[in-house]
Amino acid sequence: MIKGRLRVPGDKSISHRAVMFGSISKGITRITGFLNGADCISTISIFKKMGIDIEMNGTSVIVKGNGLHGLKRPDSILDCGNSGTTTRLVSGILSAQNFTSILTGDKSIQKRPMNRIINPLSLMGANIESNVGFAPLTITGSSLHGIEYNSPVASAQVKSAILLAGLYADSKTTVTEPAKSRDHTELMLRKFGANLITDKNTVTISPTTELFASDIEVPSDISSAAFFMAAAILVLGSELILENVGINPTRDGIIRVLKSMGADIEIINPSNTFEPVADIKVCYSKLHSTTISGELIPTLIDELPLLAAVATMAEGKTIIKDAQELKVKESNRIKVMCEELSKLGVKVLETDDGMEIIGTDRLSGNVTIDTHDDHRIAMTFAILNLISDGEIKLNNSKCVEISYPGFFCDLKNINI
Ligand code: S3P
Repeated sequence: MIKGRLRVPGDKSISHRAVMFGSISKGITRITGFLNGADCISTISIFKKMGIDIEMNGTSVIVKGNGLHGLKRPDSILDCGNSGTTTRLVSGILSAQNFTSILTGDKSIQKRPMNRIINPLSLMGANIESNVGFAPLTITGSSLHGIEYNSPVASAQVKSAILLAGLYADSKTTVTEPAKSRDHTELMLRKFGANLITDKNTVTISPTTELFASDIEVPSDISSAAFFMAAAILVLGSELILENVGINPTRDGIIRVLKSMGADIEIINPSNTFEPVADIKVCYSKLHSTTISGELIPTLIDELPLLAAVATMAEGKTIIKDAQELKVKESNRIKVMCEELSKLGVKVLETDDGMEIIGTDRLSGNVTIDTHDDHRIAMTFAILNLISDGEIKLNNSKCVEISYPGFFCDLKNINI
């Protein structure tokens, strides 16, 4: 049974942004609840290489910002590790600096599409050389122009790269997305003094001469809490309270979908500082199938592998569509989920933009899952291991450290 209370680590997206925006602000930014997973540590090391004084003490981080024009030329390659957020957002900032720098990352990062940022940033006047659309990226800073950009993808990383470049441009920059992606950049940049106007799926940023430091309390990551929501829903007799979870409406699709599938989820103690936060009570529930598509997709993009796994226990056929973006995450999450769920005897169909999962009442086990070094795939199957007949082994469980270093320890502690 999954019982008790749990506070999962800080939000990955917000932790990255707090370090980045703190670094290019004037003054001291004190971050609490920081996620010290591998991805956010890559962001810290990149800004340290550009001369920013950053001290990390557990989940507290102090960033001594040097102002909008205070970054120094790094004397070696900037390594983003596994982090797409670091690669894409930092590219927006580097496009406007008065030096050349090289950004790269691990094998997975070098396979992730970068034309989605290279194209709009080049329209602004950026000078970026790539390996035919992939990292390494060599970025030579230039003076930038404001643009009006219609993004072909709903992506917060793309939107944020453009908005960050827009801080340095000679006129306003507008980004419109096909569906609204997470808006942490907009909320936090405003807190640091930037001027942004949002209207539905469109954001306009005005250039500025300076940002000003602001303390940031990072809420727990809903994308990490999601694994434990799923655990409590799937394991008979469970009742769990997840504390202080960020429930920004651009991220809460997981809660909306699970509820629509019949899950017993209650939002308690909501509060709103600069990001909405609440405790979430989740109990064991019988589920039925659903269709996940359209504007919902960006609000739960990182939770789709987990939702596919949960759907194996829902009565009927669950359909996930409009989710092509899953193919270009840390792994091809459509293909990987279909292949790995099949190993457990699940009937699952891979489609061009998602998958279809037929609910069942038992999962076979005694299999080894290939995580493809993807942290969310690893955690997803660790949750299914709670309810499978035999043991589900993971070929690389260490990759959970990308976003949730204490994952297995937390899972052990609440599984009583
Ligand atoms: C993120 C945006 C999303 C998400 C990623 C974090 C961010 O990526 O999948 O884990 O912090 O902006 P896309 O913008 O590529 O959809």
